[in-house]
Amino acid sequence: MADHAILAGKRVLLVIAGGIAAYKSLDLIRRLRERGVTVRAVLTEAGARFVTPLSVQALTEDTVYRDLWSLTDESEMGHIRLSREADLLVVAPATANLLARMAAGMADDLAATVLLATDKPVLVAPAMNVRMWQHAATQANMALLESRGVRRVGPNEGVMACNEYGPGRMAEPMEIIDAIAALFAEDAHRPLAGLPLTGRHAVVTSGPTHEPIDPVRYIANRSSGKQGHAIAAALAKLGAAVTLVSGPTRLPDPAGCSVVHIETAREMLAACEAALPADIAVCAAAVADWRVDGASDRKLKKDGGGPPTLALTENPDILATLSRPGERRPTLVVGFAAETGDVLAYATAKRARKGCDWIVANDVSPGTGTFGGSDNTVHLIRADGTESWPTMPKDAVADRLAEAVAEHFAGK
Ligand code: C5P
Repeated sequence: MADHAILAGKRVLLVIAGGIAAYKSLDLIRRLRERGVTVRAVLTEAGARFVTPLSVQALTEDTVYRDLWSLTDESEMGHIRLSREADLLVVAPATANLLARMAAGMADDLAATVLLATDKPVLVAPAMNVRMWQHAATQANMALLESRGVRRVGPNEGVMACNEYGPGRMAEPMEIIDAIAALFAEDAHRPLAGLPLTGRHAVVTSGPTHEPIDPVRYIANRSSGKQGHAIAAALAKLGAAVTLVSGPTRLPDPAGCSVVHIETAREMLAACEAALPADIAVCAAAVADWRVDGASDRKLKKDGGGPPTLALTENPDILATLSRPGERRPTLVVGFAAETGDVLAYATAKRARKGCDWIVANDVSPGTGTFGGSDNTVHLIRADGTESWPTMPKDAVADRLAEAVAEHFAGK
């Protein structure tokens, strides 16, 4: 369990939207208050159908804010003040409807208005029917919100109130509290002004992509995401605001970064583009070159007719797309080249072909242990020459690359 000491004295504005999980929010209030957190609650109209304003009021020992137009609520506490007087906004349960309204920037009730008006961190705990969660619209809304820095906890998998099984259950109150504590801990460590990359935005891709064959099978590769995640963390340590776009990995989200989780190459490209503008792009992901053309939306069966033929089609090249000249091109675009022989020659050609500024080249021949391992031996290829770095841990490669990036921007 995370350390909850950091929670004492913090102020949370809790938005309770309309879902069956709203009953858990009552427990969340109680447990937050036990940890010294002041909780003020905004209840949506639908939320008030699941929990009574009276229960919320009794547990928060404060007014429950419900109406954008209420003369008393507004005169006592306008929506700007509501968000200003909080350290964090938590939306639990976050329904599909409220996530959609947040993504669209709507301000059609008090909850949406407060969420639009805030400059404080926002954590959402989605809760909805599994199909609503898996719907492309909800997934796109969530990815967009995450690319803007909204944090998420859950949803969990399990049997739902509607008797279906899958992801959609709201995270448990203690999981939400752990996520809140982690967010405050991150903030406490976040470097402030005065660091070399303060004020710069970096987009980093990391990990493999998963390209579906059918709902249960996919094409993937052996990338662990260690190097990309380390680079995201290293850039954040030097003060950059980092959006990490990550394929499926076993790694925890690195501290100080806003992380967008995706599965496919096309989702990775969309998330990168949504994160622009950026000063820096580092493409460290091992993106699948091909995906199955017309992946099946039903599990392929052994029906005696022999194995299926999978037709492949090319995935977009994210590095080449971000490197394309234009207004939205990041000032510095860095790619990776994993080669198995003649590393420098291939990597130099790749730099020209992709149109990026720098290439970090490494040898991934069997026996080097680079894929999934902790060490890396790389060469940094720039327009004016190549530097070969000694073998070192991936964290150290990341720190050295972040320093080179900082040097590049020094005085600019
Ligand atoms: O062409 P190749 O896969 O060897 O290029 C490697 C570099 O290109 C890496 O920086 C990788 O992140 C990036 N890449 C990409 N999108 C692809 C394929 C590779 O961003 N579809």
